[in-house]
Amino acid sequence: MKINDNIDSLEKYKISYKKSIQSSENFWDEKAERLNWYKKWNKTKSSDFVKGEIEWFIGGEINASYNCLDRHIENGFGNEIAIIWEGNDPDHSRSFTYNELLKKVSEFANALKDLNVKKGDRVCLYMQMIPELAIAVLACARIGAVHSVVFGAFSSDSLRDRINDSKCKVLVTQDTGVRGEKQNIFMKKNADNAVKETPSINHVIVVRRTGEPVHMDNKKDIWWHEAISNVSSKCKPEKMSSEDPLFILYTSGSTGKPKGVMHTTGGYLVYASYTHEIVFDYKPGDIYWCTADLGWITGHSYIVYGPLSNRATTLMFEGVPNYPDYGRFWEIVDKHKVNQFYTAPTALRALMKEGNKWVNNKDLRSLRLLGTVGEPIKEPEWNWYSRIIGKNNCPIVDTWWQTETGGILITPIPNVTPTKPGSATFPFFGIEPVLLTDEGEEILGNNVSGLLAIKNSWPGQMRTIYGDHKRFIDVYFSKFPGYYFTGDGAKRDRDGYYWITGRVDDILCVSGHNIGTAEVEGAIGKANGVAEAAVVGYTHDVKGHAICAFVTLMTGLEPDDMIYNQILDSVTKEIGPHAKPDKIHFTPSLPKTRSGKIMRRILRKISEGDFENLGDITTLADPGIVKDIISSLR
Ligand code: WT7
Repeated sequence: MKINDNIDSLEKYKISYKKSIQSSENFWDEKAERLNWYKKWNKTKSSDFVKGEIEWFIGGEINASYNCLDRHIENGFGNEIAIIWEGNDPDHSRSFTYNELLKKVSEFANALKDLNVKKGDRVCLYMQMIPELAIAVLACARIGAVHSVVFGAFSSDSLRDRINDSKCKVLVTQDTGVRGEKQNIFMKKNADNAVKETPSINHVIVVRRTGEPVHMDNKKDIWWHEAISNVSSKCKPEKMSSEDPLFILYTSGSTGKPKGVMHTTGGYLVYASYTHEIVFDYKPGDIYWCTADLGWITGHSYIVYGPLSNRATTLMFEGVPNYPDYGRFWEIVDKHKVNQFYTAPTALRALMKEGNKWVNNKDLRSLRLLGTVGEPIKEPEWNWYSRIIGKNNCPIVDTWWQTETGGILITPIPNVTPTKPGSATFPFFGIEPVLLTDEGEEILGNNVSGLLAIKNSWPGQMRTIYGDHKRFIDVYFSKFPGYYFTGDGAKRDRDGYYWITGRVDDILCVSGHNIGTAEVEGAIGKANGVAEAAVVGYTHDVKGHAICAFVTLMTGLEPDDMIYNQILDSVTKEIGPHAKPDKIHFTPSLPKTRSGKIMRRILRKISEGDFENLGDITTLADPGIVKDIISSLR
């Protein structure tokens, strides 16, 4: 395994970047050598952005779990720590060496095989941040089953829909979960409710995490510890083609239906592995911690696949930043002597608000690098992060990417790229960002802004929306032919630095979670008495954006606490508590164009309290409505 590219100056970055674009295939051929392949590829890439057909390392054969485990052991590193797990309560941690992890992964892989899970079958993982989640991910990869991790805060309805969309054969969950003050998250109960309506699920495997009593169905349900009690601790990794699916991960879309983002094996792993090493300046022996949940892409690429393929020690945290107090993150950094720390701006804002006393009594000298992801970071929290956490001694990497991109696309190279607080700076190797006008013209030069798109493919790019390739083309390629469209707006400043300005479509980023307005509107619409709802985001000092719902009730109904609570309950049930609106305004009607499209632009202004600059409202079917809405708020 080749470690480090020796990019130690901006000059070298620029030369290397140029090479990565001009002879992209040679560049990626060389990077792909960092992994162990059963069979080398015979063609580096084939990509067609019109048909949405993307392939990398064609003809190659590889196994992701082998690359994350066995090969390190074969190289003599079996006793190094692969995962440090820190539980919700302090003084509750465990660690797993590469040897131990391989044994657990192999056992669970065999348990899945015993339940007749085969290469290509989908397995749904609905768990909190417990070690068995990482083990299950790698076990699926080992036998070529496609994992679909569903974030543990999703409701049973969301879980059901995701299972049905990709027809998962087995569901893995846990008895109950603990998270911060919450001591009883009913994972198995939610799973039970979901599987009432998921005909494809043959078995539910249940991890005993808390020991809380749960109902077990004799035919369907199996305890994890029983499933592995009689299996071999060796399991031969399946030889996968580069383009065999590795996982599906659902992300919000601008229609109510979530998109099953599908990633494949070879290209994804090359990209996750290479970006993890370069962007986090990962050196052997470092303790690396990404605070994300495995339910999101950040956890897939930068807790499991990137770090483990690089033989890192990766920390996995079950809890939350404010439990038992606001010093928990820094206590963990101190306790495990973390070197690289990667989190979301929303967490930083929440912690910054509580003052420095939670930080100052911790020893953070082990930290060498800080990272952020998920939304634009603003100057105050960037400075706080740099000064108070990094002691002015750690580069900050503000990494821009998406579930769809598989790995980081725009980022500083640590200790090389001069940073500007709030800017993700420059493209990573092999990535060609462009700014487009609404008509799809490339905007050249600097000091400009536009829609962010990517020219040409990169190995970590998603390959399709599971079961709906047409939607894949529609969402990402048809608006601007020849480009991958990100859905984000961006600015390129006079020095060529990229600043991401946020989504330009109907997706909100709330506490780092992407939530489609249509999904929330659909859930609100199911509450009794609701005629129509429109959802927008407004600026919130901790969450980044918070959700504001404008709701019209059926004629004759007056808003009251019951309706209010029913709306919140419906959102919790349909999506999950993270999507609950912070504000609900009951309004006589909604502003619509003549073609019936809700003008969210106006509602956005209103939700920010900006009644004066509503822009052009003459295209509304009934411009008078705006006044009615405003007066209904006052
Ligand atoms: C959207 C993707 C990629 C992992 C986390 C979210 C926003 C992400 C940044 C950043 C500004 C960012 C974008 C993007 N975003 N990173 N560094 N600066 N905005 O994954 O749920 O697929 O969300 O998050 O709007 O499109 P995701």
